[in-house]
Amino acid sequence: MLLSPHANRLVSSRVAPARPVSSLLEDARHGLLQRPRTLPPKYFYDDRGSRLFEAICQTPEYYPSRTEAALLSAHADSIIEQAAPAHLLELGSGSSRKTRHLLDACDRLGRPCGYWPFDVSAGMMLDAGAALVADYAWLHVHALIGDYTGGLSGLPLRQAGRRLIVFLGGTLGNFEPADARAMLREIATLMRGDDGLLVGLDRVKDRARLEAAYDDADGMTAAFNGNVLSVLNRELGAGFPVDTYRHRAVFDENKARIEMRLVAGHDHRVQLPALDTHIDMQAGEEILTEVSYKFTPASIEALLREAGLTLTRHYEADGGDYSLLLAKRA
Ligand SMILES: C[S@@+](CC[C@H](N)C(=O)[O-])C[C@H]1O[C@@H](n2cnc3c(N)ncnc32)[C@H](O)[C@@H]1O
Repeated sequence: MLLSPHANRLVSSRVAPARPVSSLLEDARHGLLQRPRTLPPKYFYDDRGSRLFEAICQTPEYYPSRTEAALLSAHADSIIEQAAPAHLLELGSGSSRKTRHLLDACDRLGRPCGYWPFDVSAGMMLDAGAALVADYAWLHVHALIGDYTGGLSGLPLRQAGRRLIVFLGGTLGNFEPADARAMLREIATLMRGDDGLLVGLDRVKDRARLEAAYDDADGMTAAFNGNVLSVLNRELGAGFPVDTYRHRAVFDENKARIEMRLVAGHDHRVQLPALDTHIDMQAGEEILTEVSYKFTPASIEALLREAGLTLTRHYEADGGDYSLLLAKRA
């Protein structure tokens, strides 16, 4: 067997959930047999879904990824100087593409640190880890495979030294507000003394730009959304006619959130053998597959405060399009 020359700097482990995490079967039972029908967004991210998310990030409409990357590129040195991390722990790291700005800053400033990506999408994370150890000669990557909704207390990150916890991509916006607060509280509990948190959050803006960002002309977001039905067909033997569903992205101004929905194209019956039942979908009936909350400076401050965190720096994109926040324990 041929081993990469960098293999000893990339290790991985599975993170056992610290509390019960619902299975796909339970989530499908809970979400599809009720109205409105819903599915949790974590099931988007099989290998195909993870690749589709990367393709979304390249579309002209999807400004959040580009804008966050530009903020990281501009401010990475300042972030690393302030946070002075011995370890970077990244939740929902995906391809780690934007994290490279932080690693480049570590490189420039002569501050090597360990990298701990944590993601459900093992294939994407391990490919990214292999590329990172090849590109950064000093870097050790410990990939954590698991579901962060199962808690953070079981992470094998026991080493001394400051940690910077990184949560990019506006992914915290995919949590319902109470869950986002609980997640941030859990992060705050994990933080010791001078540990820092770097979180990226998308901002409220005009409806047309928001809805276009989640409904690109090339249909990448549509394919990503429909992929969750393919996951159900493959994993649960469900019978969704995937190609007959239409993608829809709607901004709900009252809730300040984008909703991604899948709309049935015609009346049909979907067999769900793993649940020992079926559902009858009417033409036009929708399944809510993802919410993405958008923030204002005031709602950001309130969210951090309620979680026991204090904002230390707010890096804001021109026009207030996006916020990158550095915080510590209050
Ligand atoms: C919106 S993408 C962001 C990816 C990357 N951080 C970025 O900014 O481009 C969300 C990432 O979180 C991961 N993810 C989603 N739900 C998760 C969960 N419950 N536990 C762990 N990772 C999760 C996905 O696999 C995906 O890589």
